[in-house]
Amino acid sequence: MKIISVESVTTLLHHHGFNNYMLDLMNALKRDFGRWESFTKMPRPAMHVPGGVLELMPICDNELYYTFKYVNCHPKNPSIGKQTVVATGQLSRIDTGYPVMFSEMTILTALRTAATAALATDMMSRNDSHTLAIIGTGAQSEFQVKGLQLVRDIKEVRYFDIDPHAMKKFARNMAHTSLKLVPCENVQQATRGADIITVCTACKAQVDVIKNDWVTAGVHINALGGDTVGKTELEENILPRSSIVVEYFDQSFIEGEIQRLSKEKAKELVHAELYELVTGKKKGRKNNTEITLFDSVGIALEDYSVLRLTYELAEKYNTGENYNMTPVLPDPKNLISCIL
Ligand SMILES: NC(=O)c1ccc[n+]([C@@H]2O[C@H](COP(=O)([O-])OP(=O)(O)OC[C@H]3O[C@@H](n4cnc5c(N)ncnc54)[C@H](O)[C@@H]3O)[C@@H](O)[C@H]2O)c1
Repeated sequence: MKIISVESVTTLLHHHGFNNYMLDLMNALKRDFGRWESFTKMPRPAMHVPGGVLELMPICDNELYYTFKYVNCHPKNPSIGKQTVVATGQLSRIDTGYPVMFSEMTILTALRTAATAALATDMMSRNDSHTLAIIGTGAQSEFQVKGLQLVRDIKEVRYFDIDPHAMKKFARNMAHTSLKLVPCENVQQATRGADIITVCTACKAQVDVIKNDWVTAGVHINALGGDTVGKTELEENILPRSSIVVEYFDQSFIEGEIQRLSKEKAKELVHAELYELVTGKKKGRKNNTEITLFDSVGIALEDYSVLRLTYELAEKYNTGENYNMTPVLPDPKNLISCIL
């Protein structure tokens, strides 16, 4: 069984190139969202604990693989020197049930979240979007910018975080790019004049990080941080003004911004699930004045795509370590022989 550590992912990205990996991942996401009906899926079971949530994200492709991811969200972790979100995951063959890869998924989650937002933004934002506002410059933020640069000609990034240290870190990491970086003093200032707003804050509460008054015609919003029960980022009045796209209604209604609505209202306001844009069944944007909202929570299908791609690339570049995580036996019934 292949073991993909943090170091293996770093090596893999160096071999393949970050942009190549992201473009391949966006294609893998298109392929898998395009095969929506051939996956057995379920809203992720979440266990809430003081200060955080622990989630398991399983999905089964009826053709080849079953995957699952374990992921948490503990917004106060950085105050004790730990990350808010960490994850690990597994890829198994469905014909034998044998696991073939176990992987770190903290980095893979950031990559797949950025690739999914980029895919949605490509189909939902105005083609002439050049100014991006990033609210929350934590672990996900740079990945988000790099993803969006692949689908739109981003020239200016306006950014704000309540933590000045996180803003300095973001500026340092993005300094080598040709982007015009504009540090802002508050969310209102950052969102002013933005064509795309990406909000990726972490706070386990219903917080109106983005106020309705600041959302103007034609803007596209990627709302990533409202992703569990009782955790949202947008003032509720933004929802009826927006054309809303979710990944998977059954899970998004529990965890996304639309959790604030009645089921009837949510059904009425949600324009599409992401796969309907990918397959061309519905359009992401009707005109240049529409407000579009990608209400992202992160679903197991995205983890499936990133695990499958990573496995294929790890095989190609001979990356990762191989360990016997299942016994190798000449006689499959003679399990005791392992320990005799
Ligand atoms: N939708 C998805 O698929 C997906 C995937 C991964 C993470 N997430 C979510 O994205 C969010 C960010 O994750 P992360 O790993 O970057 O966390 P992080 O803790 O590293 O960064 C979050 C940042 O938000 C800032 N922040 C909190 N409240 C704010 C506010 N009101 N205004 C401005 N900034 C504020 C914090 O200071 C912090 O720097 C989390 O809520 C996480 O659950 C979603």
